[in-house]
Amino acid sequence: MMSEVQTKTTVRVRLNVNGAVHELDVEPRWLLSDVLRHQLGLTGTHVGCEQGVCGACTVLVDGKPERSCLMFAVQAEGHEVTTIEGLTPADGLSPLQEAFQEHHALQCGFCTPGMVVTAAALLRDRPNPTEEEVREALSGNVCRCTGYQFIVDAVLAAAKEGRS
Ligand code: FES
Ligand code: FES
Repeated sequence: MMSEVQTKTTVRVRLNVNGAVHELDVEPRWLLSDVLRHQLGLTGTHVGCEQGVCGACTVLVDGKPERSCLMFAVQAEGHEVTTIEGLTPADGLSPLQEAFQEHHALQCGFCTPGMVVTAAALLRDRPNPTEEEVREALSGNVCRCTGYQFIVDAVLAAAKEGRS
């Protein structure tokens, strides 16, 4: 009789996401982006290229913008992850999101969560950035719709009005 070999494919992780701790069973190969979306239902984190190029999956890890498609979920244990949902007030939009809306900084919206997460980190660290600094900060985020100018305008407007 053949002996039965049992392979444990998941590990238990504790992920701190948007201020709440979640205990999850994940496979070590699962990407943070997929776990955020599929285990936690945080679908505001978008997945475009899955190779670190487009920036749609950007989240904050310990306050720093990171591509969640380039991290395994297990690597996020012990760190604070903030998604676009964590930057969005329960009763509406953040001032930065309102600036995006007012300045027509989105069309299809696919890139928008990554743009907003990245811009929010910029404005937190540099409340009055120059246009060049805004463009530099957003240079890793790809938008196929807007031509970028309206996005830059929105971030600069939010900065000017002291909004983030
Ligand atoms: S999906 Fe992560 S950078 Fe494109
Ligand atoms: S608004 Fe469509 S990709 Fe940016």
